Amino acid sequence: MPTANSKSNTTPTLASTGIYAHVVGWGMAVPENVMTNDDLSAFIDTTDEWIRARTGIRERHIASERESTATLGLKAAQQALDVADILPIELDLVIVATSTPENIFPSTASLIQDQLGASKAGAFDLSAACSGFVYGVQMGAQAIRSGSVQTVLIIGAETMSRVMNWNDRGTCILFGDGAGAVVLRASQEEGGVLSAVLRSDGSGGDLLGIPTVGSLDVLSSKAGLENGHSMSKMYMNGGEVFKFATRVIGDSIMQAVAQAGITLSDIRLIIPHQANERIIQAAARHLKIDSALFMMNVERYGNTSAASIPIALAEAVKEGRIKEGDHIAFVGFGGGLTWASMVIKWGVPTPGETAILKKQRREFSYLLARWRAALRRISRRISEAFHIFRPVQGRLARLRRKVDNSPLV
Ligand code: UT7
Repeated sequence: MPTANSKSNTTPTLASTGIYAHVVGWGMAVPENVMTNDDLSAFIDTTDEWIRARTGIRERHIASERESTATLGLKAAQQALDVADILPIELDLVIVATSTPENIFPSTASLIQDQLGASKAGAFDLSAACSGFVYGVQMGAQAIRSGSVQTVLIIGAETMSRVMNWNDRGTCILFGDGAGAVVLRASQEEGGVLSAVLRSDGSGGDLLGIPTVGSLDVLSSKAGLENGHSMSKMYMNGGEVFKFATRVIGDSIMQAVAQAGITLSDIRLIIPHQANERIIQAAARHLKIDSALFMMNVERYGNTSAASIPIALAEAVKEGRIKEGDHIAFVGFGGGLTWASMVIKWGVPTPGETAILKKQRREFSYLLARWRAALRRISRRISEAFHIFRPVQGRLARLRRKVDNSPLV
């Protein structure tokens, strides 16, 4: 069985460049549809009592046919840009942590980058299951500290309902859909992401996963589906994952705290991956701290995988549980197996007076993004069909350049 690596990560995370990566924006989005425990017990053999006692979950949000990982991620991202009061064009990088992307490629990050009109950003998806958001924040922070980028959007977004085996009462009662996002920005002010401990133990890959078509064609492979797993549906050994989670949470938080050069008593709030209330309570006992120090909202959303930490963060800020100068910690764990902890010193600058002007410009950017995408597709089709008709191509190319260079995008 996997064990938490007790060796502390000695890599210094505060870059010698003197650049710090601060969280300056946050947001969340969940579908409107709510599925209660009683709704579940109407079609599988379970009860509200059992689910609440074993997990703490009362309800979860489930995406409608028109919602997807990208639509939820886009909403959360737009909220985060509003809080940060920045324009999409200011983004250098868009990272989406997800286990339920729209496709293997194009990435969900590229879809969201396009819909935002973030035309100067790179974009990629990150696969580290429920630890993915913490991995993503660390990738963004490292890119900022290296001096290569200024502003990074990190989104954790999932439509877990699409990969559930709705006949498996051991898993389908746990998960929900949603998205959360943060904007990280370079600053000379000390603070922001202070430390991160990222870990993996691939020997536990058989405990939790979603088989899909990849370089190993699981449809024809004996190995892929031999344990009775279904294509594109999640399987989980709940008991073993529970034990793994309770073992790694405490150790990895302690490593991240030590790496940040502080002690556990300096931490104002711990935001754990929201998988099960009992896991969080066990971690609190292990760390000998009050479970009230942990942010918990699993009751209302269930386990939203990579989205759970940024959703809980957005709610914690709204509830006034995080103030400027506070040290907070994130801890994620899940498939891979993977786990990750991080310490952040919260230091959010006051929004500027240009907030209203920028909001209008952001909305214009979203509108223009749709036109630009449509124009590009049309221009590609015309170019394909009339590749010999160069004057038309020239005019379309000039028009595209005009739209791309518009100061409003
Ligand atoms: O984000 C990824 C990380 N994933 C997790 O963190 C999940 C971690 N695991 C868990 O949260 C828990 O293991 C579960 C909630 C999945 C299961 O709770 P448990 O306390 O470990 O229950 P169990 O699997 O040991 O099952 C106990 C009993 C069994 O019945 P018998 O064999 O004792 O008669 C199960 O068949 O409960 C039964 N059971 C249920 N009964 C009613 C299992 N699922 C259900 C259900 N409703 N939904």
